[in-house]
This record gives sequence, structure tokens and C-alpha cells, in this order.
Amino acid sequence: MNNKNAKPLYEQIYEDIRSDILSGRMKKDERLPSKRALSERLSVSVITVENAYSQLIAEGYVRAAERSGYFVQYSGEPVKLPENAPVPVYEPEPESFPDVGTEIFPFSVWTRLMRTVILEKGSALLKPTPSGGAMELRAAISGYLYRARGICQPPERIIIGAGSEYFYDMLIRLLGRDKRFGIEDPGFYKLSKIYRLGGANFEYISLDESGMKADELYEKNIDAAHISPAHHFPTGVVMPISRRREIMSWAETGERFIIEDDYDSEFRWSGRPVRAMFSSDGSGRVIYVNTFSKTIAPSVRISYMCLSEELYEKWRETLGFYACPVPSFEQYTLARFISDGYFERHINRAKKRFRRIREQVLGFISEFPDVRIFEENAGLHFIIEAENAEQIVSKCLEHGVRVTPLKNYYSDPSKCGQNRYVVNYSAANENEFGIIK
Ligand SMILES: Cc1ncc(COP(=O)(O)O)c(C=O)c1O
Repeated sequence: MNNKNAKPLYEQIYEDIRSDILSGRMKKDERLPSKRALSERLSVSVITVENAYSQLIAEGYVRAAERSGYFVQYSGEPVKLPENAPVPVYEPEPESFPDVGTEIFPFSVWTRLMRTVILEKGSALLKPTPSGGAMELRAAISGYLYRARGICQPPERIIIGAGSEYFYDMLIRLLGRDKRFGIEDPGFYKLSKIYRLGGANFEYISLDESGMKADELYEKNIDAAHISPAHHFPTGVVMPISRRREIMSWAETGERFIIEDDYDSEFRWSGRPVRAMFSSDGSGRVIYVNTFSKTIAPSVRISYMCLSEELYEKWRETLGFYACPVPSFEQYTLARFISDGYFERHINRAKKRFRRIREQVLGFISEFPDVRIFEENAGLHFIIEAENAEQIVSKCLEHGVRVTPLKNYYSDPSKCGQNRYVVNYSAANENEFGIIK
């Protein structure tokens, strides 16, 4: 008996006897020691032995015969048990870059709101929220979308999910595996993985300086184009109105859809935020997806999707039976965070901070000889062209700025221009970055 073992004593006794029975060391009808005898031998209480015996009886290894004791009941073939399975050791997660600077997350506000929600809602928090998410959160997002993105969407047609990737998967099921999806090339690496694993039919669509090429959508017979017009990852292209119109008219000629992935539209460095395509879609062709991964933190795992009336009905009929994947506690806390004005304040602080970091990173990188910088007016990343980037890569990395070859984001890396890199400063901390020079 091992008192230091993490398992309770009764469980250790149960396991020892069970393994003797399964391995054939104890045979059918063999008598077990009496509870008192075993408790004395092991220096444990009779109750502990009784608990072990009860478990063995419940699982059919042992039977109790009135007034004569306990006997082995199991008579199967001896089983070779795994030798002392190692106790799993907790390995800390390897440190990874967060996607948002950690300095400004409003921990005290979040804690206060969570406490308020628990006190105010009480046991109501234990009830599942509707499949599409808590109405309070959907209403808060509806208000935010109207103020920030010019989107006028009733709360009922906003669905809450656990990250944009949750919706990428869901959209395969909503639109159907028979549909042919078109994804941006280069693009976000998870998209091809998700469409492939989801069994969807998909094609890579090339980009030019205006974003996804509309003529390839016709050529490749695409039914649903997955685009990020506000700020493309990784090239940083902001899709101009002319290309938006072309893609919109492609969608309007037939049963076609646009998946507008607005993942970091909040971060724009000059001029007004670019309007969402969803806000000027009169024909119900655009599906809008956005996330709190960039604006709050990637660990929050909350995202939302806006659907047209027709698609919403289809979603309700076919997928509305799924439980909402986001815990009610977080949904209500986020609802309060948005409706009490903290979210927009937080975005403004994040923008100011990223603007300063961006200037520092741009200043730092432009000091290297023969570096060209592209598309730096939106989002938390931009592209550079540099012949000898090793020094830039290692120096930036020391300060939380990732520099990765652009070719990594292409389906065929040979299609990428030489010496191009993506500079991502979403994880840089300001003070730390200040000492770069
Ligand atoms: C292009 C793009 N879309 C979406 C996301 C966010 O995904 P999620 O909401 O699943 O965290 C990211 C995050 O890095 C991204 O780069």
C-alpha cells in the first residue's frame, strides 16, 4: 500500500485484487481474505477494504456469499495487463506567441463583469443558451456591427461560434459538400486544411494587386468564394470597390456565395474603416464571419456569423439542433463588455498601441539596406522584400515580431516572388520593442 500514491487507498486495493483475478493468480471461487483480516494486514480501515470489495462486486469480479465471505467470480481467460502504466506527467505547453499584445487586456473590468454576471444571472447561467448563442450577446454584437461596420443585422440572424474556424467547418455543412469552394492563394494556412478535412471540394484562386481574381471564379466553376476584402492575410491587400463589384456580380449570377472573412478589419491605419461587403449586399449572397481573436485574444474562442434570411432558415432547419459551443458564462460577460462600451474603448487603446508599435517596427526595418515595404496601411502585419533577411528575422524575433517567408502561404511556393517576407507584430510588447534600436 502506498500512502504517497495519488490514488485513494480503496482504489489501490481494488486494482491489486482485480489484477490478481484478471491475470489468473486468483482463480474462480477462491476465497478472498475477510474484510477485517485484510484491513489489519494492510493497516487500513475496514471501511476502506469494504469500498474496494463493493467495487469488485459491482463490476462482477467478486461475489459475496452470505455468512461465508467473498469469492472470485470471474472465470475468463487470463488477461495480460499493461505493466505499471506510467503516471501521466504534466508537461507545460510550449510558449507560443499570443496574437494580441498582452499588456492591455482589461483584466479588472473582465473580472468585475464576470462577477456581476454570476451574481445577477445566478442559476440561469447553468441553462444552455439557444443554439445560435445568448440573445444578449447577439444583440450587443448587432449594435456594435451597426456602429463600427455599417452592418444592419437583426440579432436573431447573428450566430455565435467558437472561433472563425468553427464557422469555416460549419459552412461546408450549411452550403453543402457538393459546392465548390474557392480560397485565396496565398492565404490563411488553416483554410485549405479545414476544407480538405471537411471533405469539401475546393480550388485555390490566385490574387492580383486587387485581391481574389474574379475571372478565375468563373473559370473554375466556383460556388462559394472565401475572401478577406478588408485586409487580406498575408499580402495585406485591401480589396478596392471595383473588384468587390466584380465579385458581387459573379455571386449574383447563380446560386453563388461570398464568405466575407473580416478577421482583422478593426485595425486600419489611414482613412475610415473599409465598408463590409455584407452591408451592401441586397441579394443575400454574402455570409459575414468575424472573430474576437484579434481584438481581444485568440484564447477567448468566440466568433460570430451573419446570415441572410434564407440561409438563416436553412441553418435553423439543418444545423440549429447543435448546442452553442461557447459557455454561457463567457457569452454573457462578453455581452456586457460590448454593451457597456468597454469593447470599443479596448479596441481604441489597442489601435493606439499598435500604431506606435507599427511605427517602431517600420522605422526599425527601414534602416536595413535594400528593404522594400508593401501594404502597411491595415492589419497587424505587412510584407517586406529583402535580400538578406536573416538578420531582420532574428532581430525581430527577439522582440516578439514574427518574420516568415511569404512563400509558406502559397499552395505552390514557386509561385511566390523571391525574398518576400510577412512581418507580423501582433504579439509585440511596446516597452520591449522600444529598446530594439
Ligand atoms: C486570416 C485569419 N482568419 C481568421 C483568424 C482567426 O481565427 P479564429 O477566430 O479561429 O481564432 C485568423 C487568426 O490568426 C487569421 O489569420
